[in-house]
Amino acid sequence: MSKFLKKLLKGVLADEELSKVYSSFDMIGDIAIIKIPDSLLTKKNIIGEVILQSIKNLKSVFLQRSSVSGEYRLRGLEVIAGDEKYVTYYREYGCKFLVNVATSYFSPRLSTERLRISNLVSPGEIVVNMFAGVGTFSVIMAKKHQIKVYNIDSNLDAYILSIINSKINRLKDRVFSIHGDSQEVLRSNSFKDRIDRVLLPLPERAHEFVDISINCLKPSGGHLHFFSHIKSDTKSQVVPTSEAYIRNLFSKYNFEIKHTQIVRDVAPRIYQTVTDLFIFK
Ligand SMILES: C[S@@+](CC[C@H](N)C(=O)[O-])C[C@H]1O[C@@H](n2cnc3c(N)ncnc32)[C@H](O)[C@@H]1O
Repeated sequence: MSKFLKKLLKGVLADEELSKVYSSFDMIGDIAIIKIPDSLLTKKNIIGEVILQSIKNLKSVFLQRSSVSGEYRLRGLEVIAGDEKYVTYYREYGCKFLVNVATSYFSPRLSTERLRISNLVSPGEIVVNMFAGVGTFSVIMAKKHQIKVYNIDSNLDAYILSIINSKINRLKDRVFSIHGDSQEVLRSNSFKDRIDRVLLPLPERAHEFVDISINCLKPSGGHLHFFSHIKSDTKSQVVPTSEAYIRNLFSKYNFEIKHTQIVRDVAPRIYQTVTDLFIFK
């Protein structure tokens, strides 16, 4: 994607300006979201128009004005070409998702991770997705396996979209959505000791939910997929640093780390990682 963007803008921007263009952008259905450095903001509309004209079926190009933030993990967006339209359909691994890029979190960059985790699931499992967003992880795993998944999200818009996404993928009898704070929802006894697998895809705050996620795992134990943000000067140290963090965080529990990997870079020297753990109760 990096070379693609520079190639598109060659002849439109001077060589010095081209060298400042960020390496990639997100394509979500017929919407493109790009970041532009401050020094090129005066060129934002030309850049947007070139992208709009060059990609077939693209309807809107948004400038990402602020990084993902707040409880709902939203980013500030400004339309720079095409329609000011925030809702689109996004397709992944044979599933279809209705997404609103302004009111709910969604990232196409987690696609490989969604497939990886869905490949670890076994038929018959009961899964909780504690920070489900529009329900992408849940739909992809329930499409592959005969399982039950409970989505939880505190953002009303994400919750509504997750219900729609369960319905349009014909998974109404496998994927269920609950609106609320995961801590509160899981505290209710209906989840205690009933769950095989819990996803915690909220790297900024997952550490606050360790006890409650383990509380709902079956007495025979269960799997956690725990997302973290790890600071590291070198890429080679990210996995060892992440596993040391996990060992400390889970020290009062009996557990085995099955796997840790980098999901993506989120800022200079900050990486998102995921660790798969099995908890013995
Ligand atoms: C990083 S997004 C993950 C979205 C989803 N897993 C995906 O891959 O698209 C985190 C989600 O957690 C939700 N969230 C944040 N705090 C929460 C809480 N305490 N309880 C439930 N959901 C929460 C946000 O609204 C957001 O949709």
